[in-house]
Amino acid sequence: MRIDIVSLFPEFFDAFFSHSIIKRAIEAERLSMGVTNPREFSHNKHGQVDDTPYGGGAGMLMMAPPIFEAVESVIGTYESKFNALNLIDRAEVCDEMSLIGTPNKDIRRRIVFMGPTGIPFTQEKARELATYDQLVLVCGHYEGVDYRVEEHLVDETISIGDYVLTGGELPAMVVADAVARMIPGVLGAAGGAQEDSFYEPLLEAPQYTKPPEFRGWTVPDVLRSGHHKNIAAWRQKESLKRTRLLRPDLLERPLTKEERKILKEI
Ligand code: ADE
Repeated sequence: MRIDIVSLFPEFFDAFFSHSIIKRAIEAERLSMGVTNPREFSHNKHGQVDDTPYGGGAGMLMMAPPIFEAVESVIGTYESKFNALNLIDRAEVCDEMSLIGTPNKDIRRRIVFMGPTGIPFTQEKARELATYDQLVLVCGHYEGVDYRVEEHLVDETISIGDYVLTGGELPAMVVADAVARMIPGVLGAAGGAQEDSFYEPLLEAPQYTKPPEFRGWTVPDVLRSGHHKNIAAWRQKESLKRTRLLRPDLLERPLTKEERKILKEI
């Protein structure tokens, strides 16, 4: 999968690309990522990319043309790379990267604007976005962005929460991170995206590692018992307990018979 970020601050992403799971995913060629600066597409010799809003008002808005051209350039670059692969190479790449669909399929692409007026970002959305071949995340800055970007360029606007940040860079990292870990192979064989909170719509049970005792606090005996069935039962119970306490809204769905039984007991 390819993730392109369009941002006035490419340096923000340096640490993100060069650490931990994202770094390994890039090295393993499960994921490829890039940042493009709309300033490179400024129509002004001073590199200006913002201007005052029509109708008046405080602050500056990012102009549409540099954003459109930055997005069009990342689309074009990906398309020509994709088409440059011959069919056999493409089949291999698609197979290796676990891309969905047939080797000579059209590129499936989603262009997303990061903004507080968007639809809320969820695990389900991350899973959906991970099925595209190319994801383009557009970051706003200053007091906002010319609305024609949202109207005519992007497929959707996504918000990471009900608060306003100074720019779309942190939200783009949040989305890229959540999407990347849903790509098959990114978490490795032992990585458990399936067991996470929100895969099942329940909070995850508490987890512990060594030492077994720390400052008098011990690890629950059952987790050290080696009895897999009891461990699974304990985890399900704790998971339901935690969800009822912290996120009761997640239990407002049709529950399984087993879940109803456990909830009655705890
Ligand atoms: N840009 C500024 N605030 C944001 C938010 N909450 N979500 C996504 N993008 C944003």
